[in-house]
Amino acid sequence: MISRSGFALSLPLGLGCSRLGSVLGPGEDGARALIATALDHGITFFDTATIYAQGDSERLLGRVLGKRRDCVICSKVGQHLPVPGPALLPIKRLARIAAARSPVARRAVARARAQPLPRIWTASFLSEAVEASLRRLDREQVEIMLLHGPPASVLAEGMAVGTLEAAHRSGKIGLIGVSVDDVPAAFAALADERVRVLQIPLLPGEIEFEPVIERARREGVAIIAREVFGGPRAISGEIQPEGFAASRVAELTTRVDLAVTLVGTTNERHLREAVAAALCAGEDSLRPARARA
Ligand SMILES: NC(=O)c1ccc[n+]([C@@H]2O[C@H](COP(=O)([O-])OP(=O)(O)OC[C@H]3O[C@@H](n4cnc5c(N)ncnc54)[C@H](OP(=O)(O)O)[C@@H]3O)[C@@H](O)[C@H]2O)c1
Repeated sequence: MISRSGFALSLPLGLGCSRLGSVLGPGEDGARALIATALDHGITFFDTATIYAQGDSERLLGRVLGKRRDCVICSKVGQHLPVPGPALLPIKRLARIAAARSPVARRAVARARAQPLPRIWTASFLSEAVEASLRRLDREQVEIMLLHGPPASVLAEGMAVGTLEAAHRSGKIGLIGVSVDDVPAAFAALADERVRVLQIPLLPGEIEFEPVIERARREGVAIIAREVFGGPRAISGEIQPEGFAASRVAELTTRVDLAVTLVGTTNERHLREAVAAALCAGEDSLRPARARA
């Protein structure tokens, strides 16, 4: 078991669930199989958000994981879907078929998904979003809840974190944190002592978040690394992670300053390969220590 800042994992890998139940991901059966594969291979960390797949990502996690206490679910609030999920159901089915058959349709959906959604940081919106998330997840408490992409100004003002803190005090959230899009927001989040978890984009070859990771390590804030294969550019097919995915997983999962590395996959084989790469790298990193012992 690895315990890095408040939650214990047997593997420092998490399943990124943004496409679970989405047009670019598997439907119910495929999603169930993917989660089962994750659990069978020792992955117990699942990253989701209220908006992913119009709420279907959280619903699927709730249905499959139920009230299991051996898993860590991390969700996010603060973004708003202009069209309610159920209204999109018929369109989603058709769009899923089109995206599976045509790379052009897939790229178009990936581009549409990458567009920013409206963000709302009022106490009433965030409190209601936490309640709705718990209902979809079928839990009385979610282990981690993050603000979903607030700017530095919202974090400096402190009210949005305060709303999560109130939900934490009433037992609805285990650890509170922030998922950031840029470095100024990351430093603003780290300046707030109530923030215990920070999710950051760690795209291949980019180093701008390294000072953030260093400060988080000093302050005992857990870092969740996301988009490690290229995020939207990988999903759209612009970047092909096949050639570097294993070494990327090995590189990141052996860093003790990262609590969790998210693997954003819908493919069971890719997930198994990521686990194998993490296990192999973990053994390699222990080898000199064992030799010295
Ligand atoms: N603002 C936020 O808070 C935010 C933003 C973005 C993402 N996230 C979180 O981070 C997670 C990961 O991000 P992401 O999915 O956007 O980006 P990502 O993990 O960098 O990339 C996903 C892409 O990499 C491919 N891939 C994954 N593992 C692979 C492997 N072993 N071999 C080959 N290809 C592989 C996937 O294809 P296959 O499906 O074919 O494997 C997919 O096309 C999301 O699911 C979400 O939970 C949060």
